[in-house]
Amino acid sequence: MERIKLAIERARQQAGAQAQPSSLAAAGDDPLRARGHPATSAADLGAPVDLLPLDPAHLERHRIVTLEQANPLRRAFDLLRTQVLQKMEENGWRTIAVTSPSMQSGKSVVAINLALSIAHHPSRTALLVDFDLRRPQVASYLGLPHGVSLNEVLAGEADLHSAIVHAGLPRFLVLPTQRKVAGAAEMLASDRVGRILATLRGEYAERIIVIDLPPVAAVDDAIAVLPRVDCVLLVVGSGTSTKREIEEAQRHLSRFNLLGVVVNKASADRVAQGYY
Ligand SMILES: Nc1ncnc2c1ncn2[C@@H]1O[C@H](COP(=O)(O)OP(=O)(O)O)[C@@H](O)[C@H]1O
Ligand SMILES: [Mg+2]
Repeated sequence: MERIKLAIERARQQAGAQAQPSSLAAAGDDPLRARGHPATSAADLGAPVDLLPLDPAHLERHRIVTLEQANPLRRAFDLLRTQVLQKMEENGWRTIAVTSPSMQSGKSVVAINLALSIAHHPSRTALLVDFDLRRPQVASYLGLPHGVSLNEVLAGEADLHSAIVHAGLPRFLVLPTQRKVAGAAEMLASDRVGRILATLRGEYAERIIVIDLPPVAAVDDAIAVLPRVDCVLLVVGSGTSTKREIEEAQRHLSRFNLLGVVVNKASADRVAQGYY
């Protein structure tokens, strides 16, 4: 796949690019900003918190392999984590979006595994946000129970921090989306989403925010969020995207900090091996 190679080359070149500072100022009097919320701060500080247990069998069915130490596939994601964190640290980046050329590339699987792997890191907290508002999958892949989620926050019915769930690991936080959102592109381009991202980003220096985005080529959703994140990871599902879709994704991502390309589904035991 010549185009994937080109995307990788581009990622290499761009990983050294300067961070694009977020165009959004943190709003001091923002009701979303509830600094020091006990549950969130405890996790971010590595303190014991009430953890929602995750079911290992459910996770395995959904290819989430990074919760358990013993899973042999975890190593690939830990390698990905190490390389991602290195690049992010070099550039002072704290938010990473995960997107793909088309649906069913394994984007959500990679985003969840990457975030869990980051949460294993002793000095990092991972916050996984499901901004794929058309096809939210994070909650169901993790087996989270229904509860307050990003849906209520976006509707102005709930405080941001009441929707954040601690699950599986002490330093793993999830902001799930339980139901698809009408007008997803407009919502993702809205000031409300901008404020949510600025608030989450501004709270704790050790927090890495992993954002599951929609595919980049299909609709405008991803493009609306990308200017608000520090860098982006492209997941290409081997045999899932056409050459044209991969080219289009490359074109869309060329003005952002493309951190790398994950060639997923290469074979069952080589997940994430295509990462550079
Ligand atoms: N490496 C892989 N090998 C085989 N199947 C995979 C792999 N990664 C993901 N899948 C499966 O492909 C489907 C799409 O994955 P998903 O993460 O939901 O994609 P996306 O979020 O890009 O739409 C899911 O059924 C998932 O279990
Ligand atoms: Mg998905």
